[in-house]
Amino acid sequence: MEWTREERYRRLEDVTQEAYQKLLEQVAKSPYRQKFHIQPKTGLLNDPNGFSYYKGRYHLFYQWFPLGPVHGVKYWYHVSSEDLLNWKDEGVALKPDSFYDSHGVFSGSGLVVEDELHLFYTGNTRTADWIRIPYQCHAVMDQSGNIKKAKFPLISDSPSGFTDNFRDPKVIEYQGQYICLIGSETTDNRGKIVYYKSENLVDWEYQGTIDTADYSNAGYMWECPDYFEQNGQGVLLFSPQGMSAEGEKYRNIFQSGYLMGNPIDFSTGQFHHNKFKELDRGFDFYAPQTMQDHLGRRLLVGWLGLPGVDCVTDAYGWAHCLTLPRELVVEKSHLYQRPVKELEGLRKSHRHFVGDLNDETFSFSETSRTYELQLSLTLDELEYFALALREGDGEKVVFSYDSSKARLQLDLSNAGETVTAEYGRTRSCEFQADSLDIHLFLDESSLEIFINDGFEVFTSRIFSKKDANGLQLTSKGKTSYELDLWEI
Ligand code: FRU
Repeated sequence: MEWTREERYRRLEDVTQEAYQKLLEQVAKSPYRQKFHIQPKTGLLNDPNGFSYYKGRYHLFYQWFPLGPVHGVKYWYHVSSEDLLNWKDEGVALKPDSFYDSHGVFSGSGLVVEDELHLFYTGNTRTADWIRIPYQCHAVMDQSGNIKKAKFPLISDSPSGFTDNFRDPKVIEYQGQYICLIGSETTDNRGKIVYYKSENLVDWEYQGTIDTADYSNAGYMWECPDYFEQNGQGVLLFSPQGMSAEGEKYRNIFQSGYLMGNPIDFSTGQFHHNKFKELDRGFDFYAPQTMQDHLGRRLLVGWLGLPGVDCVTDAYGWAHCLTLPRELVVEKSHLYQRPVKELEGLRKSHRHFVGDLNDETFSFSETSRTYELQLSLTLDELEYFALALREGDGEKVVFSYDSSKARLQLDLSNAGETVTAEYGRTRSCEFQADSLDIHLFLDESSLEIFINDGFEVFTSRIFSKKDANGLQLTSKGKTSYELDLWEI
């Protein structure tokens, strides 16, 4: 169904209760609703926003268009949690109800300063001629959860040399001052991160771009910047649009990754870094956001979806969800991503298996629909290994390791419904190690696979039949395995 501009810019406040009730009923009929992921009650969810820890709770907001599975006028929806596990519905946090955000409260970040949670976001506006003017805006949340928008934007429009694709402020405190990173497109269509400085969070001075190496295939627009330092390394995350596929890399419509190197010198913008690396090897991952919590952990939540493509659940009036929270750890110049420990709280009944496989397939009976799985394999005599999930009725999800190619692969060719087949149904990456540990979380319609303690991650939506719940291990050559399975 085509959505008109008028429909995309219709606000939640403009529809009757009955009309919204109908939409809720449509969503209630949907298969594929998630059990333990943050998902919209109706409409479309995209980027995580304002991820922070304030007054004993994690606060997480997300981009939301309430009235259908399309990118219409965006709100910030708010959820909060003490434990990253049980999320309280806090309702709408920011509405597109002012001159400076009339066409959408776009993405941004959160920063706790003294007793308040400061929220920074892009106010998306359009003139009568539909020319976009972006504003970088500010709101403050107090201890009782009241959010007050500032009257005027902090930064109006984009500086010269940049297009109107200028958004997603990430504000960090850095060596006694505040830095605001903004995602941008130059007028000659190159993706860049620009930055501003401030002493007081209100007056911002433009500094220029982060001086990233001019590599080819960098894309025309870099969205959703983020930056942190750990173990002497600076990590600049962003989501570039316009990269071309290179072999098995960059196969999704848009990418999401990072540059890592010596910490950014914010007095000059200089940044010496390694090659761009994708954060995730799966089919559905974009616009992640990080924060440091009270325990000193660097946490990440991403959008378990992508812009510019449809979703299988569109027909039911909703689309997409967020990833599970991950902890980021920089070790030996590698960025590890590990599911947060709190997720153990999801575990229900447990089963443990130990065995050997030698050119054979082992099938487990009675696996549940949603579970956490941990599998360790020895590799010295193993040529090929496949883990098949959601197997049955002609369907299966296959995650495999091929020692001759030194490759891991996620194959969704027979994994049920898809609306993005044009982007291919396999994703793979190089893998060389002495052992293989697969740690995964399977929800009703998503799969997050963490390899070797978060060395690689594959994140994808999957839309499989209700009765396709088989689990199989297949080997060519020999391996000893240990498997833990927790129903969720
Ligand atoms: C990324 C993005 C952001 C923008 C937001 C709008 O998915 O395009 O750049 O702020 O979504 O919803």
